[in-house]
Amino acid sequence: MYICVCKAVTDKAIRNLVADGACSMRELKQCLGVGSQCGKCTPAAQDLLNRSLTEQ
Ligand code: FES
Repeated sequence: MYICVCKAVTDKAIRNLVADGACSMRELKQCLGVGSQCGKCTPAAQDLLNRSLTEQ
């Protein structure tokens, strides 16, 4: 499922990045471009980031 439509970033891509050690929105933005265009995905990406971190 796409979390960030502008940058075509999926929930799986975000989970993979968290598994590789990412732990902040800044890292998601730097590595995947999440939220760097319209910004509408930021709340959903933040929510997924938080869930991914607690699942580890
Ligand atoms: Fe992520 Fe637009 S949907 S920047």
